[in-house]
Amino acid sequence: MTFEIKPLTGGGGAEIFGADVTNPDQFGDIHQAFADNGVIAIRDQHISPDQQLAFARRFGEINVNRFFANVDGHPEIALVLKEKDQKKNIGGGWHTDHSYDMEPAMCSMLHAIETPEVGGDTLFASMYTSFEALSDGLKDTLRGMHAWHSSRHVFGAKARTDSETAKTGRIGNTDAAKQDSIHPVVIRHPLSGREALYINPGFTTHFNGWSDPESKALMAFLENHCTQPEFTCRVRWRPGTITIWDNRATWHKAVNDYHGHRRLMHRITVEGSELAPAKLAA
Ligand code: SIN
Repeated sequence: MTFEIKPLTGGGGAEIFGADVTNPDQFGDIHQAFADNGVIAIRDQHISPDQQLAFARRFGEINVNRFFANVDGHPEIALVLKEKDQKKNIGGGWHTDHSYDMEPAMCSMLHAIETPEVGGDTLFASMYTSFEALSDGLKDTLRGMHAWHSSRHVFGAKARTDSETAKTGRIGNTDAAKQDSIHPVVIRHPLSGREALYINPGFTTHFNGWSDPESKALMAFLENHCTQPEFTCRVRWRPGTITIWDNRATWHKAVNDYHGHRRLMHRITVEGSELAPAKLAA
């Protein structure tokens, strides 16, 4: 191998030094590191939008985001931007991307263009290690369940019309927020074959057949459980870092602690496939 992989924490995630994402010969090892770690932060990649797209296409087909503003001339690259005078960031609550689609996104790739000196890190939680740490009884209950996910309460007109992200043009197209999907609560991960929890506080609306208060109580328990430091890692950005996360194995949250500074990222999301339940797929 021509580059170095360093685990970020015991809970998951790794940093990669000395790689070149424009070199197709390195893709096999980068893909393996992604499959093994769930999140990889590849340092020092000062590449153009076209080069980022070419790298992302090696993972799979690009999913064009319905709601984010995009990079001029590149509709496949979403802008994740917070200006100096803006207060709201994008992705500030725990979530996983596009779980509202019946075939949810495989991975997302963020390329740091401009970062604050301090702050603006991204937190990740492993849905492998957090699931494994639950009791056998709760694991078995969750394996038998399905949950509903939606884009409506996050990207729909009701949620966005008066929000700063909509007024500043960073998020829009509220009429397109019509996706509802149902997925197994515990999936057999299509790459690793491991069991992973597949619900998230951002887009999961309720557990199938459960009332709202029941669903909220279980979601609150799982959010507390999964975001314990033991199951998380944190990426500190600098311009040129490319981080790729597996949406079927992680949650993420962008920390909003850099008011008065600009943060600009280019995001590409890669298509995934329908998810199989852990119980049936072994
Ligand atoms: C996102 O949720 O896609 C944005 C993450 C980040 O800006 O760190």
